[in-house]
Amino acid sequence: MNKKEIISKAEEFVKEKMKNYDPGHDWSHVERVRNLAGIINSDLRADPFILDLAAILHDSADSKFPGGTRYDEIVNFLESSGQSAITARLINVIRNISFSNKNPEGDLNDPVYLVLQDADRLDAIGAIGVARAFSYGSYRKNKLYEPGDEHGGKPGTTIHHFYDKLLKLTELMNTEEGRRLAEERHRFLEKFLQQFYKEWNS
Ligand code: ADP
Ligand code: NI
Repeated sequence: MNKKEIISKAEEFVKEKMKNYDPGHDWSHVERVRNLAGIINSDLRADPFILDLAAILHDSADSKFPGGTRYDEIVNFLESSGQSAITARLINVIRNISFSNKNPEGDLNDPVYLVLQDADRLDAIGAIGVARAFSYGSYRKNKLYEPGDEHGGKPGTTIHHFYDKLLKLTELMNTEEGRRLAEERHRFLEKFLQQFYKEWNS
């Protein structure tokens, strides 16, 4: 199988796996992340084929959703596509990319991991990030907001998630280009919150 065939087989595999996820984690998220990863990787420090394959597969083992693929299914997919030589590397990237994974382990200097994590984080902030947060919040039937969220509050509302995760992402960017792109999106989150409180309290 050539690289083009492997990519289209991976696209098919992932589209099927993600069809029951929420609209914030649908195929369009994968496409945006692939695109952002390509922009961040303009100096090609990560191998473009491995990066693209990792971007396609990155959310296909998401335990937040029923039917989220198990890692063994990704391993089977890669091995049956003749990709045994890079299977362990891809699994390492996919396992470690998640913000909710508090104990990343393995090779955390792999440029594929560094670039892809930034791309995934960029899609969690800015206007798209806001849309995705409320999408996932409604999927969980979470409230929009509880007074006190702006001072930390308690988990369980979508505005709380801004403080818990989204506002922290810009500082955590791995690459210079990722950070540059994150800044505008970060400012948008702050503006959004300001307006949200203004309307809530009016
Ligand atoms: P990661 O893949 O880094 O673990 P998640 O899957 O937790 O990230 O987050 C992916 C998307 O879902 C992001 O846009 C994030 O903001 C959103 N999300 C995750 N948890 C929540 C939550 N509790 N409330 C609202 N949005 C959330
Ligand atoms: Ni993602």
